[in-house]
Amino acid sequence: MNKIMPSMFTVRDPIQHQALRRPVAQKFSMSSIKALEPFADECTKILVDSLKDLEGESVDLGVWLQWYAFDVIGAITFQRRFGFMETRQDFKGMIADIEMVLQYAGTIGQVPALHPWLVGNLWLSKFLAAQPFVKVPDPLRTIVQFTQQCIDDYDSEPVEMHGDRPDFLAWLRNEEKRGKPMLNRDMINHLSNNLLAGSDTTAISLRAIVYYVVQNPTVYRKLQNEIDEADQAGKFSEYVTYAECLELGYL
Ligand code: HEM
Repeated sequence: MNKIMPSMFTVRDPIQHQALRRPVAQKFSMSSIKALEPFADECTKILVDSLKDLEGESVDLGVWLQWYAFDVIGAITFQRRFGFMETRQDFKGMIADIEMVLQYAGTIGQVPALHPWLVGNLWLSKFLAAQPFVKVPDPLRTIVQFTQQCIDDYDSEPVEMHGDRPDFLAWLRNEEKRGKPMLNRDMINHLSNNLLAGSDTTAISLRAIVYYVVQNPTVYRKLQNEIDEADQAGKFSEYVTYAECLELGYL
């Protein structure tokens, strides 16, 4: 506790980076990622059904795409959706927390000399935390606590319930059984990295795709035609997966 933990995003030493990366690299291979696709499909269905439900109302698609991305990340990391889309709200304020971290990182990235005097100052953090009337924001706490909760829940379940789970948490625990033990802090580091690295990035990419397709009528028409043709040819079921697109030669 109260010690700075290096992550794949923060280390600058290539040897240290390699050491952090090695235990999880295989999980980011194409075949492993494709095995996670049903989790995304499940979320796509919830997104589409929710938007159908909201037909006629004005919705902020940017917000929905972020909820969608975050739910997919929860599903692939812990086999547990956060429920952003089902509850239609920022689950435990995680999106706001990440926003706060990014605001800080964005500013401090420009003026790194300030960091040792602010969040990077452990003495100051401890001092402020000990003050009864000062509420110090700790935006990563919820994400770390949630990650720990998911690990604890997984460990307390009967082994028979785990089946052949392809999510990151189950995969890391199986790696341990194969003789590659991992400290709890490293487990939290890798799993919470997914939440921090994978939600905003995916949401922003999805928003950009929608925005630019809508902005560009030629691209919009081309995409619409491709989808219509494939649909009329009966090639697509209601939800087309990446694997099916590959099989059909669309990618
Ligand atoms: C469209 C979505 C995404 C974008 C644009 C994106 C972008 C990036 C970028 C620019 C880096 C830094 C690469 C470098 O420093 O060489 C990175 C690293 C990383 N990303 Fe993503 N990312 C996306 C989705 C995801 C998802 C979904 C996950 C996890 C589930 C993820 C996990 C990671 C991890 C763990 C690293 C560190 C890799 C390393 O240091 O070796 N990313 N990503």
